[in-house]
Amino acid sequence: MRISEAFSRSFEDEFDTRLAEFLVEQKYLSNVEDLRSRRYVARSIIPHIKTLSDHFNRMNSDAPGLDGTAYWAESSNDANRRLAYFLAYAIPNAFKVASILHEISRLGFKNKGSIQSVIELGAGPAAGAAGVVLAHSRDLKITPALSLDPEFALVEQRKSVLELGSAFLQHLNPRASVRTFPRRIAFDQPWLPKAAPKFDLAIASFVLNESSVSPDTLASRTAEFVENHITENGLLLIVEPALREQSRRMLTLRQKWIERVELNGYAQRILLPCLGHQSCPALAKEEDWCHEDVSWWRPKYLRMIEELTGLDRKSLPFSYLVISKSALGAAQSFTSLEGAKTLHRLVSPAKSMGGSALEFFTCSSEDGKRRVRATKGTVQGRFMQRGDVLINAEVHGAPESSQLDQLSAIVPLIDPMTDAPVD
Ligand SMILES: C[S@@+](CC[C@H](N)C(=O)[O-])C[C@H]1O[C@@H](n2cnc3c(N)ncnc32)[C@H](O)[C@@H]1O
Repeated sequence: MRISEAFSRSFEDEFDTRLAEFLVEQKYLSNVEDLRSRRYVARSIIPHIKTLSDHFNRMNSDAPGLDGTAYWAESSNDANRRLAYFLAYAIPNAFKVASILHEISRLGFKNKGSIQSVIELGAGPAAGAAGVVLAHSRDLKITPALSLDPEFALVEQRKSVLELGSAFLQHLNPRASVRTFPRRIAFDQPWLPKAAPKFDLAIASFVLNESSVSPDTLASRTAEFVENHITENGLLLIVEPALREQSRRMLTLRQKWIERVELNGYAQRILLPCLGHQSCPALAKEEDWCHEDVSWWRPKYLRMIEELTGLDRKSLPFSYLVISKSALGAAQSFTSLEGAKTLHRLVSPAKSMGGSALEFFTCSSEDGKRRVRATKGTVQGRFMQRGDVLINAEVHGAPESSQLDQLSAIVPLIDPMTDAPVD
């Protein structure tokens, strides 16, 4: 995913200190030095990260009998378990959500209305909601903007982690109003009571993968949720693991959701990462899947955790979908895509093939998924990366060995500090 330098540094420098101060205030740490202390981190946090990591790996391998709540309950020291999740998972997840908002903004989202109300489903310590606040902090000009007095609703089955999330959001944005709903969502039923309000933005971050409900049923419930609880032109962000099994489950949900939306005549569209409503070409091949990857300057404490555990958080892989409650698709919703006859998205990194030759995979409504060869000249000398969008690319040849002959433009990176194109 193409993000700006300024944004990639959002969690650097003073972030660690602010986080440590918050954790002391909440009595998760006894003093701010704890987060810098190798001894403290190794003793009190690392064992829990290892347990969580084992748990998520087993869950991702579809082992039977795993319950998504087990990682909060198994611990002899619940507070340290929550702290471990918060530090090693929630903060990276917040950055993933913030990156998706950055991408929406980079492409020039036309809906200039601001986000007043946000709901996070399966919020844990409010990672997704925190990502929304962080995307809009440090003078970053992200569209749609966040209201100055935003309202957050957090739905989560574990009260203790919900309390941590609520306090974290309030700490990040003291002007926000935060309401908590400690309850278990039955994902095969309507997700919210009928009388619940509509939200400008909803987030389901790393929660649908914990449900044993079939993608078919999840798709119907997703469409119904968007119809009943998202405002006109509002958005639903779904974030899931980047692993094949989980990602394919989300792609199946996407496929079934398209069928459901067409059947019911709902005005809902996929906005990202796919730039059209095509059947997903990755689903056609059993061994294929689709994911993003974002690089960041991670907080210092995470580097220490990496050294102590071998976990790698240098770049953050994830799968995602952005659904809009609108009849307008991506080409009509983003200024940078206006008037484009074709749109191709890079769904892999670009490999140098020697000389000026490059190779990457693209996905588009017109051509499906293709392995594409290009020269540096055809891509206007640009450094290409996963997530890049090519406007009016002329791609010829067989899907396994296509050639990019020419294109009109590559969507530029917009500097979120200045609003100007970077490259
Ligand atoms: C992996 S955590 C993700 C937390 C946060 N959204 C993030 O991105 O880091 C999943 C959370 O969803 C909660 N959860 C799972 N199934 C749920 C359900 N059916 N209803 C409410 N919460 C649920 C779990 O308790 C857990 O806190």
